[in-house]
Amino acid sequence: MAIYSATTNMTKRQLPKPKDFLPLIGFRAPRLDRNQARLDAATNLWDLRSIAKKRTPRAVFDYTDGAAGAEESMKRSREIYSRIEFNPRVLRDVSNVDTSVEILGKKSAFPIVLGPTGFTRMMHYQGEVAVAQAAGDFGLPYCLSTLGTTSIEEVAENAPNTRKMFQLYVWRDRGPGKELIDRAKAMGYDTLILTVDCPVGGPRLRDVKNGLTIPPSLKFKTMMDMAKYPNWWFNLLTTEPLTFASFSSTQGTVSELLSRVMDPSLSFADVEWLRSQWQGPLVIKGVQTVADSKVLADMGVDGILLSNHGGRQLDRAKVPFELLPDVVEKVGSEIEVFVDGGTMNGADVAAAVARGARAVFIGRAYLYGLMAGGKAGVERALQMLTKEFTDTMKLLGASDVSELDESLVSVRPKFS
Ligand SMILES: Cc1cc2nc3c(=O)[nH]c(=O)nc-3n(C[C@H](O)[C@H](O)[C@H](O)COP(=O)(O)O)c2cc1C
Repeated sequence: MAIYSATTNMTKRQLPKPKDFLPLIGFRAPRLDRNQARLDAATNLWDLRSIAKKRTPRAVFDYTDGAAGAEESMKRSREIYSRIEFNPRVLRDVSNVDTSVEILGKKSAFPIVLGPTGFTRMMHYQGEVAVAQAAGDFGLPYCLSTLGTTSIEEVAENAPNTRKMFQLYVWRDRGPGKELIDRAKAMGYDTLILTVDCPVGGPRLRDVKNGLTIPPSLKFKTMMDMAKYPNWWFNLLTTEPLTFASFSSTQGTVSELLSRVMDPSLSFADVEWLRSQWQGPLVIKGVQTVADSKVLADMGVDGILLSNHGGRQLDRAKVPFELLPDVVEKVGSEIEVFVDGGTMNGADVAAAVARGARAVFIGRAYLYGLMAGGKAGVERALQMLTKEFTDTMKLLGASDVSELDESLVSVRPKFS
């Protein structure tokens, strides 16, 4: 006690001076760009998701956020990333880190691809163009969906500097599918991605409960909702009506068109046909077993995307990240193996790459950004993912993506 008082008595005190304490308060003038300020305050993708939830009508948020059935596949895809255990190497010089990779013959700044998502202009009026432009700004590829709400041509014209891929659902009648492929090729899309996990639409129970229609229709409940999200509705009603922009010339209602693109008779013969029609890189999306991966590799596809559609199709389908090592071991030397589902952090991407993925496709991660703040929101999401990825590389002692290998990652058993 005596020592304590002696010490405090020795400390010389003075009156606080404004020049000393004002910088500590860190007072800043309020930012005029409230959208950007809100986005900057978000610390991770979960924060962006919270902003998105507040700024988007419930049915639209749920359509994006939700999955099929009890949503087990989606939960499991996220849960497995929480059980990742990194084994970092230390004392490596990581002052310069090269995060780039070659994806299907072209360099990408990071092993991240912005995957195909339908109806993107419903999430935010800036839609596919905003997403494609943001991808290009970060040196990442963007894949437009067959169910896009902006046409193949419009995306290409507005995002000329972005590497573009096109996702196809093969149609019951092959004519319109072939027409889409030709248009994509003519507009410089260099990779075709065939989605094969949709013989029927998955049971999206949130959509059923919310009475979601596409495009959204103005029922009494919707009118009530309008008051809460005036900006979203204003933007929807003052921009081009939501349609499947790439095949608006095709006759039929939205549900008729949907049932025509989700073809239950799709088979390996269609992959063969597509291979003969498309000379560029061909990737099959929605592959979920080692055996199918092998058959496809033998058929001469260039890549497979291990995916259960973000849990939106068959609920309780295997978690793609779990499949990775076995598939990579079987076909990884012949073709490029990609993965998606549950990615909410750049460290997840690092883990997937370490387990053998060439790159990770993201879906909701950028859509949360889009719903939270349009193009600036997508950029914020990509800023987070790329910084997290780069920092994780450094923390793992890897200065080149090729140094991310299996020795750096293990998965903790569920109950330990
Ligand atoms: C709102 C939404 C729409 C989607 N639309 C398509 C689509 O049109 N075609 C497709 O192949 N996949 C589609 N997907 C699946 C994604 O490409 C991807 O497989 C999935 O989102 C990955 O999971 P993640 O969202 O957890 O990253 C969609 C996903 C979401 C969330």
